[in-house]
Amino acid sequence: MSILDERFIGKTFSDFLFRPQMGVVSTRSTVSLSSRLSPTIPLGLPVVSSNMDSVTEAEMAKAMALEGGIGIIHRALSIERQAEMVRYVKRSHSAVIESPRRVACGTTLGEAKKVAARHQITALLVEESPGSGILAGILTNRDIPRTESALSRPVDEFMTPFSKLHISAPGISESDAERLMFDKRIERLPLVDDNRVIKGLITLRDLLFAKRRPYSSKDDKGSLRVGAAIGARGDQLERAAALVEAGADALVIDVAHGHSDVMREGVESIRKQFPETPLICGNVATGEGARFLADLGVDAIKIGVGPGRGCRTRLETAAGVPQLQAIREAYCAVDGKVPIIADGGVSEDKDIFLALICGASSVMLGSALSGTDESPGHLIEDPATHQKRKIYRGMTSPQAVLESQYETGSGETDLSAVPPSEGMQIQVPYKGSVIDVLHRVRGHLQSAVSYAGESSLHAVREKMLPDPMRFLIPLSDAARKESFDR
Ligand code: XMP
Repeated sequence: MSILDERFIGKTFSDFLFRPQMGVVSTRSTVSLSSRLSPTIPLGLPVVSSNMDSVTEAEMAKAMALEGGIGIIHRALSIERQAEMVRYVKRSHSAVIESPRRVACGTTLGEAKKVAARHQITALLVEESPGSGILAGILTNRDIPRTESALSRPVDEFMTPFSKLHISAPGISESDAERLMFDKRIERLPLVDDNRVIKGLITLRDLLFAKRRPYSSKDDKGSLRVGAAIGARGDQLERAAALVEAGADALVIDVAHGHSDVMREGVESIRKQFPETPLICGNVATGEGARFLADLGVDAIKIGVGPGRGCRTRLETAAGVPQLQAIREAYCAVDGKVPIIADGGVSEDKDIFLALICGASSVMLGSALSGTDESPGHLIEDPATHQKRKIYRGMTSPQAVLESQYETGSGETDLSAVPPSEGMQIQVPYKGSVIDVLHRVRGHLQSAVSYAGESSLHAVREKMLPDPMRFLIPLSDAARKESFDR
């Protein structure tokens, strides 16, 4: 265990600047920001979207993974809905669609059109008989005539039959598939085994889309990565089973006080049942708490008690540790051996960089990603000013607690059983797409790396993590005013 430098005690993000170092990069866009969420999950952008019902559902998780981060789908949802969101992200933009939608020969064109519309796809594979999985042809939007009378005729009459298709065996590399599709001028490549059984589908659109996003977070099969939250007890085993089955890349046991027996029991039962699934746990805010989770063998530790914008924990209970101190304490306590996720309190992009050079491997954001197109909830427009806003709320805010009782199907709310609130609801300005927010964050982190005199985040962390205080400047009130008052 390394020793915590006492100058971190009582300190948080706006207490420091870092001393610029001689620059080595000529253009910041080449700066690598690679880091990791857990030992087996790399990130191209060390940012995680918070498992809150006003921050991360399917669209946010998809956007996060496309930009190199990862989203954690919140758990104030029925198990089915949460698992469905995981499935949606896993199916989005994957290089190989493992179970392409299909209809059987004999299906009417009208029925096939409905299937394609329901799943918002432009082509269906056609199998010889229902459930056979044997490829008979492909039906694309272009094959469907506009005449009403055709709708009652079978798809077999309109599809491109197997004899005219270009196909491949499963396991073809993305580059070989792309070459083949360009050579043959085709947009879809079905993957079939020796018996013509459908094993997948590659589309040119997905391949080109992926090429434009070299940083995106993908698993070994080329599907976007996504995490999902569970509790430490209650329905946790059933929920975890559904999420793992749906393809979740990591489970996050998220409780307000993670340094507790409840957490110990939760971790032990999940580990027993799902030993292979990366397990992230939190929240804790002390070295002792981090050590406790490390000793339980978790894959990453979430740090933060009370720094969040929607949090009232410190106000209501006086419990908490200033966030930069908490991050550094945790890092020292586990000797940098377990990845730390700094969760909460980021109000400016610079805070992310400070968290990363003091010990965090990634940073979880709530309010910074809220108010975007991809965050859940409706736009609220002020009729007088026409300003657009969205709701952001703590997960223990009265509003979130009451709504989740209904969403999870627990029926009527027993108000006396609801714990006193440690969260609140606010309205935040509408910010447009989260993709733009993430591009801005990426650019600012790349600039920070450049000011820190290195060409990658990894190199900056190697240099600064052993003793960040060598590079940090504590701010006087006047210096803080000079730096941040605008
Ligand atoms: P930011 O500052 O990024 O913080 O908005 C997001 C984090 O806040 C935590 N969170 C809460 N903390 N009461 C709390 O004390 C709550 O109701 C609450 N809801 C969310 C959570 O860790 C999240 O990632």
